[in-house]
Amino acid sequence: MELRDDLIILLLGGHETTSMSITWALYWIHRLPQVYDKLMAELDTLGDNPDSSAITKLPYLNAVCHETLRIYPPTILGAYRIAQEPIEIMGYHFEPGTYILPCIYLTHRQEDLYPEPSHFRPERFLGRQFSVYEFVAFGGGSRRCIGYALSLFEMKLILATILTNLKLALPDNRVIKPVRSAFTVAPSPMYMIPT
Ligand code: HEM
Repeated sequence: MELRDDLIILLLGGHETTSMSITWALYWIHRLPQVYDKLMAELDTLGDNPDSSAITKLPYLNAVCHETLRIYPPTILGAYRIAQEPIEIMGYHFEPGTYILPCIYLTHRQEDLYPEPSHFRPERFLGRQFSVYEFVAFGGGSRRCIGYALSLFEMKLILATILTNLKLALPDNRVIKPVRSAFTVAPSPMYMIPT
């Protein structure tokens, strides 16, 4: 039974989060021509049949993936923690037994960390390294997402493969909004067409 539960959580936690992140990334890349151009120029430096490690090391692709996960984190809340002893966090006192639920979305919208937070701007991730308390799309601490490295790897390989093999476009200027999906916050219905 425990093995079954572990397999189900890997499937649920690993599938929708990553696929929605790739969908969001495709949206932003095609909505913002300057992002598309910069990314394509970087992918062009790889030459034919690049190996996967070369793709994962591309700085701008890495920044696009992180900005995608920052602006609309697929899971807006982390898993709750229960205080085991009295603790104080930023002047707030919590008694043992208090449930504490970190909000990933609000952390990623803090102006002091991410100026103009509603703007998709991958360059933020080129200029500086964010700490584990600032970029929290995968949660934090000892229960941080077990699949974080795998999902970034998947995102980068899938985006690079799609972008170098297909020319896609958004059919109109509709703004895509986040909506509640089964497990995540996903893009509202979105279509892309080959050009
Ligand atoms: C973009 C993709 C993903 C995002 C945004 C994401 C996000 C998260 C978050 C926020 C947590 C809670 C962490 C915490 O409370 O500190 C979590 C936990 C978890 N994730 Fe992910 N995840 C992603 C991909 C994956 C993948 C690919 C897998 C597995 C193959 C996976 C498996 C898990 C598991 C098993 C946990 C529970 C870990 C624990 O409780 O110790 N996730 N994830």
